[in-house]
Amino acid sequence: MECIFSWVVWSSAFFFLVTLILLLKGKESKNPRRKPPGPSGLPIVGNIFDLGTIPHQTLYNLIPNYGPILWLKLGSVNTLAIQSAKAATEFFKNHDHIFCDRKCPIAVTSHNYNQGSLAIGQYGAYWRILRRICSMELLINRRINDTTHIRRKCIDNMLQFIEEDVAAAQARGESGELNLVHYLFVMAFNIIGNLTLSRDLLNSHSTEGEEFFAAMSKVMEWAGAPNLADFFPFLQRLDPQGIKKGMDRDMGRAMHIIAGLVKERTVKDNKMTKEKRINDFLDAVLEYESVGKEGPDKISNQNVIIIILEMFFAGSETTSSTLEWAMTELLRNPESMRKIKEELDRIVGRNRKVEETDINELPYLKAVVKETLRLHPPIPLLLPRNSMQETEFSGYHIPKDTQIFVNAWAIGRDPECWVEPLCFKPERFLGSNIDYKGQNYELIPFGSGRRICVGMSLADRILHLTIASLIHTFEWELGGNITPQTLDMSERMGITVRKRIPLKVVLKKCVI
Ligand code: HEM
Repeated sequence: MECIFSWVVWSSAFFFLVTLILLLKGKESKNPRRKPPGPSGLPIVGNIFDLGTIPHQTLYNLIPNYGPILWLKLGSVNTLAIQSAKAATEFFKNHDHIFCDRKCPIAVTSHNYNQGSLAIGQYGAYWRILRRICSMELLINRRINDTTHIRRKCIDNMLQFIEEDVAAAQARGESGELNLVHYLFVMAFNIIGNLTLSRDLLNSHSTEGEEFFAAMSKVMEWAGAPNLADFFPFLQRLDPQGIKKGMDRDMGRAMHIIAGLVKERTVKDNKMTKEKRINDFLDAVLEYESVGKEGPDKISNQNVIIIILEMFFAGSETTSSTLEWAMTELLRNPESMRKIKEELDRIVGRNRKVEETDINELPYLKAVVKETLRLHPPIPLLLPRNSMQETEFSGYHIPKDTQIFVNAWAIGRDPECWVEPLCFKPERFLGSNIDYKGQNYELIPFGSGRRICVGMSLADRILHLTIASLIHTFEWELGGNITPQTLDMSERMGITVRKRIPLKVVLKKCVI
C-alpha cells in the first residue's frame, strides 16, 4: 500500500514538473519581450568589437550559430540583423511601415545635412516631398529616356579617355596597365553632374572640379568610417576620433562649391523664360512649390545644396564599384566573358555602337548584371533602418529605436534560394523572372519597400550600357601578371564595398 502511495506521489510530482516546464516554455515563446538570439557581448561595449572590419561578412558567418534573425548590442544601440530571404520577406511585406525610418550617424548631422537629406532623412512630410521630386526625375521611365544622350556622352568620353591613356602609355613603351575604377568613377560622377547641374565636373585631363571631387571623396571617407560616438551618445560632444570635425570641414567645402554652382545657375535662369531653361534636376528642385498642406512651400537654399550633393554621394561610388566587380568577375570567368562578347557581336555587330535600346535584346548581359549585384551588392547592409515603434517580428520583441541591418550580401548567398550560391553563374538568371526591383526578396541590392533606392532605374541603365560598351570596344586582359586563378577578390569597406586591391587591366581596341 505504502509502495503504491509513493508511486502515486512521485508520478504526480513528475507530471506536475513536466507540465510546469512545458507551461514555462510555452510562455517563453509567446513572451512579447523575447529578443532574437545573438552572441553575448562584453559589458558596456556589447558586440561592437565582434563586428570586425567587414561587418556584413562577420554577420553572415554568425548564421550557423544563431540563425538568420540576429540580435546585437552595439554599445547602447539595439541592433537587429535580417539575413535570409524568408526573414526579409516577412520584414518588407509585413513590417516595412514600422521600419521605414533611418538611423542617422552623427557624422552626417554636419551642417544639418541629415535635415535636408532624402537617404538619411526621417520618414515624414519632408521626406515624402523629396522622394516625389527625385522619383519624377530619376525613377520614371519617360524622364530616364529623355536623358539617354547624357549617359551616352559620358560613357563615350570615358572610352576616349581610356584610349588616349593607352596610346600615351604605348608611346612611352609601357604596357598601358590601367586602374579601371578611376575611369568608371569619373564617368559616373559626370553623369550625375550632367543630370543635376548640366555640366561635366570632372575631365580626366583637367583640374576643373578637382576641388569638389577631393572634398566629396573626404566626405565619403568620413561617412564610411566606424564612429564610436554613434554607439555611445555621451561621446558625441568629445568626438574622440575627430570624425565630426573632419566632416564639418570637408562637407563645408563641398557645400560651398555646390552653392556657387547653384547661384550661377539661378542668376542665369532668372534671365530666361521658364520654357527656355535647361530643365534638369536642379530646375526641378528649384521650381518645387507646395501643392498640398504637407511640408514647406519651397525647398530652402541650404536644402537645395544638400539634395544635389546627395545625388553625387548616392550615385557615383555605388555604380562605379558595381562596375568594377562586374568586370572583375568577367575576367575571372573567361567563359562568361566569351558568352557576353558573342551576344554583343550577334545582336549589335561590329558596325555600330551598342545603345540602351539594345539592352532588352541582350539577356546574357542582363544576367551578368544581376549575378554581379547578387554577389557584390555595393551597400551590403542597405542603409540602416530604424524602428519607429516597438513591435513583434517573427515572434520576437523589437523595441522602438532599434537599428536594422538587412544583409543583402548574406541574402544573395542564402542556400535555401540559390544553388551553388558562392559561384558566379549568370546562367541561373536565364529564363528566370527573378529581378532586383524589390519584389523578389532573395535579390535586394537596391533594398525594397518605401525606402527602396530612388536611383534604381538610372543605375540600371548606367550599369548595362557601360559593361556592354566596355566589352564591345576593347579586348580585355588582366594586368600585373595576375591570372583568373590568382585574382584577389577581397573587400574593403567605405561608403560602399570596393575591391581591396583595385582591378588593373590591359585594354586593346577591338578591330572593327
Ligand atoms: C548600383 C547602383 C546603386 C545601388 C546598388 C544602390 C543601392 C541603394 C540601397 C541599398 C539603398 C537603401 C534602400 C533601402 O533602405 O531599402 C539606396 C537608397 C538610395 N539611393 Fe541608391 N543605389 C545605387 C545607385 C543610386 C543612384 C544612381 C542614385 C541617384 C543618383 C541613388 C540614390 C539613392 C537615394 C537618394 C537613396 C535613399 C532613398 C530613401 O531613403 O528614400 N542610388 N540605394
